[in-house]
Amino acid sequence: MATHDIAIIAGDGIGPEVTREAFKVADAAAELFGFGLAKTEYPFGSQHFLDTGEIWPDAAFEEVKGMGALFLGAIGDPRIEVGKIEYGIIARARFDLDLYLNVRPIKLYDERLCPLKGKTVEDIDMVIIRENTEGAYTGTFGFAHKGQALEVATQTMVWTRAGVERAIRHAFEVASTRPRRHVTLIDKANALRSQDLWTRVFAEVAAEYPEITTGHDYIDAACMRIVNTPEDYDVAVTTNLFGDIITDLGAMLQGGMGIAASANLNPGKVSLFEPIHGSFPQAAGTNTASPVAAILAGALMLDYVGEREAGAAIEATVVDLFRSGRLKGVEVGDHPTPEVGDLVTQALRERVSG
Ligand code: IPM
Ligand code: MG
Repeated sequence: MATHDIAIIAGDGIGPEVTREAFKVADAAAELFGFGLAKTEYPFGSQHFLDTGEIWPDAAFEEVKGMGALFLGAIGDPRIEVGKIEYGIIARARFDLDLYLNVRPIKLYDERLCPLKGKTVEDIDMVIIRENTEGAYTGTFGFAHKGQALEVATQTMVWTRAGVERAIRHAFEVASTRPRRHVTLIDKANALRSQDLWTRVFAEVAAEYPEITTGHDYIDAACMRIVNTPEDYDVAVTTNLFGDIITDLGAMLQGGMGIAASANLNPGKVSLFEPIHGSFPQAAGTNTASPVAAILAGALMLDYVGEREAGAAIEATVVDLFRSGRLKGVEVGDHPTPEVGDLVTQALRERVSG
């Protein structure tokens, strides 16, 4: 029996509540499909920082490097300086584990979840590949004349040919496994002229995949198109910042922040799985937030560690629950948080063992 070492940082706000449900389901899948999950839970997050002054000690970070996957609930707490825990935990994992791909599937599971008129589940089924270690997120910023009238603030977007190429190449690889075989580059090369690097590298990589068709949108037009004709997108590849923004928009098309899951990957190495949503501190401790995104992040995690059948079964179970109406939706108040984990676990058992 394969056993997978999993690190868990449930984190802040609703993080612990949704993480508990994600592992209720993942543990049931392990039992049903015959594999083991050896979980190590870490207390890191804002409360731990407030209590101990510690963010993510190096020894624990090193430990995680040897595991199969890291699951993150949510990070963010209004009591703490903006960015401190985000950079100390999420960005640290992304940068120091070189998780260079942020893969964000945007898939409509049931028509009634979509806020757009007349769109079907066939129309909204795309994967956005967000470059995850460069761009506006490298932390190359600064201030001059701080506090003075002539203060200057800078933040540099940084791209390397290698970084751009590996993200674009992954998009083509993903597209080659999908029926539509189409990749769109989303950038702002008309204004950010340094993005000419993306234009050139995209053309070079595309030439190696003659069976895949390509498209290009500037990010502003992409925001329009994803709402107007989401069916135009199959796989899209974009920068760290544009990917951050457009995947929140994409999450709404799927039915809300409570659904969207993501994989932060360094293929072959320890990778991070998380819901796209934040810590939603107003709802913390109330058991009202939907754990569906976390459960689906768990499914992506199982798929990644090699438990493909288990990952697919969890996703299919969630789809059935939405389509049959047993899962009403992912808005606050639709279901108490633990009820969703129970529903999915029970339906998964029925699906697998009858
Ligand atoms: C995300 C989040 C993070 C990001 C924040 C919490 C730093 O919005 O994962 O999309 O901007 O990448
Ligand atoms: Mg975001």
